[in-house]
Amino acid sequence: MVADTDTTSWAELHQQTVERLRAAGIENAPNEARWIIERAAGDPYRLVADKPVTVRSHHHWRLMVERREAGEPLQYVLERWPFRRLELFVDRRVLIPRPETEVVVDAVLDEHARVGGAVVDLGTGSGAIALSVASERPGTEVWGVERSPDALAVARANCTGLGRRARTVRLVEGSWFAALPDELRGEVGVVASNPPYVPDAAELPDDVERWEPIDALRAGDDGLADIRVIVAEAAEWLAPGGALVVEHGDDQGPATRALAASAGFTEIRTGTDLAGRERFLVARR
Ligand SMILES: C[S@@+](CC[C@H](N)C(=O)[O-])C[C@H]1O[C@@H](n2cnc3c(N)ncnc32)[C@H](O)[C@@H]1O
Repeated sequence: MVADTDTTSWAELHQQTVERLRAAGIENAPNEARWIIERAAGDPYRLVADKPVTVRSHHHWRLMVERREAGEPLQYVLERWPFRRLELFVDRRVLIPRPETEVVVDAVLDEHARVGGAVVDLGTGSGAIALSVASERPGTEVWGVERSPDALAVARANCTGLGRRARTVRLVEGSWFAALPDELRGEVGVVASNPPYVPDAAELPDDVERWEPIDALRAGDDGLADIRVIVAEAAEWLAPGGALVVEHGDDQGPATRALAASAGFTEIRTGTDLAGRERFLVARR
């Protein structure tokens, strides 16, 4: 459809968006429509509702609506998503940052307040954990490790977006601790990670399976393949008293605590998400 951009207002386009998203079976159509409009218009809906739509922003709107109608997650369509105090750029190269990981960052900051030192985020993806620490604890030395060069490009874009607060962040490509410089061995205050932890055979929601990077999610028969490596190697990199904080699946608490105990960690506990489910390990060296 060609827009008559002299006369079409954002309010009219909003109504069309709601109808199209509803027809595509999207439950939260009115809100999603508003977010799409705000992204295309570049301003809050209330400020633009009566204003005419430009040709350029109409084009952007049309592409977003088509992508959402095709089932692409809203976060990728909008190319940005809030995470704690940040608005992160996200696309199909990275996992969409989840609310449970926001809670993991609280534990990372608490442990860092106690022990200080550098923070390492293993499997940084969009940079959600690393950049939250850099932004909420300015001046902290933060290392973000990522195996996927594609994901690392997204983390770098988000790092640039953080401006001066990112000056203490280093993003490095490689597998878990092998990507870190040797000087950090025994010196790290907090090792944080939201690694892949979904068992290979476990069912995932259709939109996750179809759109999100599978290497960011699956981790062997029991989902613990990556957690096993991280827990086994972390103590060597932590300073005395340093902490390991690792997100995991809601049925992996006992197994993860057992791994931490056999790796010699102390003060082992499991943190819960906002719904009260066991979702992350906190253990001290
Ligand atoms: C569950 S995602 C978490 C992304 C981000 N930290 C977050 O919380 O939204 C796991 C990330 O670990 C990365 N990853 C998987 N295996 C890795 C490895 N061996 N070394 C480093 N990163 C790895 C994936 O590419 C993915 O970006």
